[in-house]
Amino acid sequence: MRRHYSPIDFPDPCSRTSDFLRYPGGIWVAAVSITCLLALVLQPSKTQAATGSSPDGVASMATPGTPSPLAEMLGVRFIEGSTSAVLIERGGKTYVVDLMAQTIREGDLHRVGYTEGQQSLASPQSSARDPELGAKVFADKCSACHGADARGNARAGTPDFTSPRVQATLTDAGTIKTIREGKKGTPMPAWSGKLSEAEISAVASFVRSLGPQKTTPANPSASGEKQNAKVYEPADDYLYSLPTGRRVDRHGFYFNFTHRFAYNPAFTGPSIGNTLFGLDGYSISSFGLRFGVTDKLSVSAYRSPSVIGRPIELMAAYHLWDEHDGNPLNASFRISVDGQGDFSRNFTTNFEGVFSRSLRRRAQLYLVPTVSLQNRMLISKPGALSAPPPGLPGVNSFSLGFGGALDIRPSVALVAEVIPTLVNRPELGIHRPAYSFGIQKRVHRHAFTLGFSNSPGTVVSQRAGTRATFVGDPSADTPSGLFIGFDLMRQIY
Ligand code: HEC
Repeated sequence: MRRHYSPIDFPDPCSRTSDFLRYPGGIWVAAVSITCLLALVLQPSKTQAATGSSPDGVASMATPGTPSPLAEMLGVRFIEGSTSAVLIERGGKTYVVDLMAQTIREGDLHRVGYTEGQQSLASPQSSARDPELGAKVFADKCSACHGADARGNARAGTPDFTSPRVQATLTDAGTIKTIREGKKGTPMPAWSGKLSEAEISAVASFVRSLGPQKTTPANPSASGEKQNAKVYEPADDYLYSLPTGRRVDRHGFYFNFTHRFAYNPAFTGPSIGNTLFGLDGYSISSFGLRFGVTDKLSVSAYRSPSVIGRPIELMAAYHLWDEHDGNPLNASFRISVDGQGDFSRNFTTNFEGVFSRSLRRRAQLYLVPTVSLQNRMLISKPGALSAPPPGLPGVNSFSLGFGGALDIRPSVALVAEVIPTLVNRPELGIHRPAYSFGIQKRVHRHAFTLGFSNSPGTVVSQRAGTRATFVGDPSADTPSGLFIGFDLMRQIY
């Protein structure tokens, strides 16, 4: 990801000289500073006459912490560490001028936490409840990356803090920790040392206050906080092969990458030990993209490789109910068409319902009834990369997938699923239901799932098929035939 610099990464050339030597772009900064100094020196003599000592005024202006006569005369105060806001005193009142947000607010110096020595006075306890300080720090330090409206910025990779879904993944303590320590490997900087503890807790509670509870003050008992405490957040679009039906972000862009090492069992034969549970083996690697047209409607395209018939699947999904909105269930409906041989033959049309319910915040259960019209038996055709898959007659099938996810740590879940085919199972050569289990790790907008399965297919029509037909060995569906695989999900925007 591109590194995004916020203005705070740079010393303010006009107000500080002490940082020049430490800053690698010092020459550039020096040039700008000289220009600034010249501009000040060459200012209309009116100002110089008023201060009575222009060179002194200029010099002390560049030393933070020392009140400059010029600034004093103009009633301007600088805020320690801020490059975008100044305090202006007029008629006994203090105003916070925020250049970034282009706002001017009346502010009480002590309430906003700035004093003569420009040290923060407020205690963490009092400031945590000080929305003005929190909002000010946010506008000042955070809005460059997080947006002035806190709704995030796709290019900066920042989340929408006003979204109930984002708020549901945050905790008060976790937010303070993230602000203090930053997020390693992301542009989110660490603020401890740069902001006082009072400012950190104030901005943390400001961030936490942006959630949905704010919009329903009339009914505090049904507040978003309480509701979200009961809603599970799936880390991925898939449990393993079964959809979680989770809602997407409007204009969110996701990719899903799956690997199934279906030719080598993980726990028997030569795979164990020297081929690392089959990870050395041949993988069925599929790739898909999903786009949120709105936060309810999403479309996706997904392709599996030649060895599994080279299907391309096109899908539209609609998210009808969401537990976050107070519904008893999450419900989505998905319609998809897949055609093998890169969408040229063996077409199957699928209708799915994806229903899920949270067991508090820790777990979620899934039920996925699926009708597939003109479905085909799952077969493998290795070594036939150029030839199209055989044209096979289809049968209509119905499967009922169910599964669950259980968080064993805040970012780690165990997942499991079973997808029995209930209609036309023998015609599809399925002896035992497809099943999978694995462990899923979420990292903000990414998820990684490592699992074991007897089901090589990941497009809707193929995921209920099993390894027995795929490798042509009826015994391949027993637990000893389980093979390894993984899913990678990443939200790009
Ligand atoms: C240089 C850009 C930048 C600045 C400045 C910045 N952030 Fe962030 N912040 C990010 C990015 C990018 C992420 C997402 C990191 C990730 O991918 O997990 C993030 C994540 C966060 C998160 C965690 C969200 C989550 O879902 O876990 C919090 C909380 C947060 N920022 C608060 C703040 C606050 C408060 C400030 C101001 C004091 C601030 N950030 C300033 C870039 C920034």
